[in-house]
Amino acid sequence: MDESLTLHGDGFVLRRWRQDDLDALLRHANDPLVPRGLSERFPHPCTRADGEAFLAGRVVDLQHPVLAIEIDGQACGTIAVRPGQGERRFSAELGYWIGSAYWGRGWMTRIVGTYVPWAMQTLPLYRVQATVLDTNPASARVLLRNGFVEEGCSRCAIMRPDGLHDLRVLARVGGAGRSGLIPAMRAGECVCQAHLYAAGRQIRHRHRHRSRVSCIASTST
Ligand SMILES: CC(C)(COP(=O)(O)OP(=O)(O)OC[C@H]1O[C@@H](n2cnc3c(N)ncnc32)[C@H](O)[C@@H]1OP(=O)(O)O)[C@@H](O)C(=O)NCCC(=O)NCCS
Repeated sequence: MDESLTLHGDGFVLRRWRQDDLDALLRHANDPLVPRGLSERFPHPCTRADGEAFLAGRVVDLQHPVLAIEIDGQACGTIAVRPGQGERRFSAELGYWIGSAYWGRGWMTRIVGTYVPWAMQTLPLYRVQATVLDTNPASARVLLRNGFVEEGCSRCAIMRPDGLHDLRVLARVGGAGRSGLIPAMRAGECVCQAHLYAAGRQIRHRHRHRSRVSCIASTST
């Protein structure tokens, strides 16, 4: 895990969560408005024990780029992608929240606009997907303004106390995939993470290997 990972945006910083973020985390997360648009895994009330479990990496895997949103010197939300595994390793699920004190001022639109291109380029990814509750038009708007396309919906996917809800499926594709990743894979060239990173940024940086299997086995070739 790269502890020093830091992305600078217009008035905000995205960085790793720290143990001393606990009070700020609780101040913004322990709010009944925040979990309405999130999975029920997000607790309410959000207790000190819940906050400690999150910061200890027992709720989500903090090895992934799970970044704190820092505004005015305090952590007030989070944004993360969770990459898939195996054949889905170049796709990821995006999630985010920000404290209600900051809503409606364009923060998350700008934060997604900084984070998603970085994640697609760096991990690399050629698909980032978000699922949005049908009652959360603000979140869908944030994604649509950042190049996500609405692909459809998972009907009747979520049961909430007020009844069944659809999940809107939005995704952004491209980045590494469009420029270098897919052609390299079709040609049977390097499919290891390290070389795809290079291919995603620079198409001419390709390596031909004896076979795809040997490439996966050894990232040093
Ligand atoms: C959803 C959330 C991330 C939005 O963050 P934010 O910083 O307030 O978003 P922004 O201000 O950047 O943009 C909100 C957009 O939604 C629009 N919007 C807000 N309420 C809306 C509504 N009821 N109907 C339609 N559009 C709405 C705003 O007008 C704005 O669009 P615009 O810039 O084109 O005018 C924030 O409310 C949040 O964290 N909610 C709780 C957690 C959550 O729902 N996470 C997303 C899970 S998918």
